[in-house]
Amino acid sequence: MTTAFNQILTEYACCGSDSLIPILQKIQEEEGFLSRQAVIEVGKTLDIPASKIYGVATFYNQFRFEPLGKYHVQVCRGTACHVLGSATVLQELEKMLKIKAGQTTRDGLFSMEVVACIGACGLAPVICVNGEFHAKVSREELRGIIEEYRNKENTQCTIS
Ligand code: FES
Repeated sequence: MTTAFNQILTEYACCGSDSLIPILQKIQEEEGFLSRQAVIEVGKTLDIPASKIYGVATFYNQFRFEPLGKYHVQVCRGTACHVLGSATVLQELEKMLKIKAGQTTRDGLFSMEVVACIGACGLAPVICVNGEFHAKVSREELRGIIEEYRNKENTQCTIS
């Protein structure tokens, strides 16, 4: 485990099981996701079975158990986006990428996350890929957006 990881454990160890969520948040912030090993180490430190930690962590959809993809797709499910069809956008992305929210494609290229309002309601429904906003996305446009990122990847591979 990394030095930063060990520092987080040391910092929170004295707080006991009350510190579980903040520890998991810090580790995810540092490492991008919660690895199996991280969950086991947290369990040892706080004296909580790993199964219980998984139970708690899966209850909150903020935690990830796989590394982020090279392109991280955030699908807004806030009210404005919901009213304008974000459920269809999410379904279509799940079909296209063959993953569910919280997962990463096998090739590591895309990961997907459902988020609450990302502050661009006037552009609803919105998705955000690595910080780049795509506004008023329709089911038809999604394919083009995803293909654009795939092509970017292929182009980079060809050049290097
Ligand atoms: S509800 Fe989607 S950006 Fe606000």
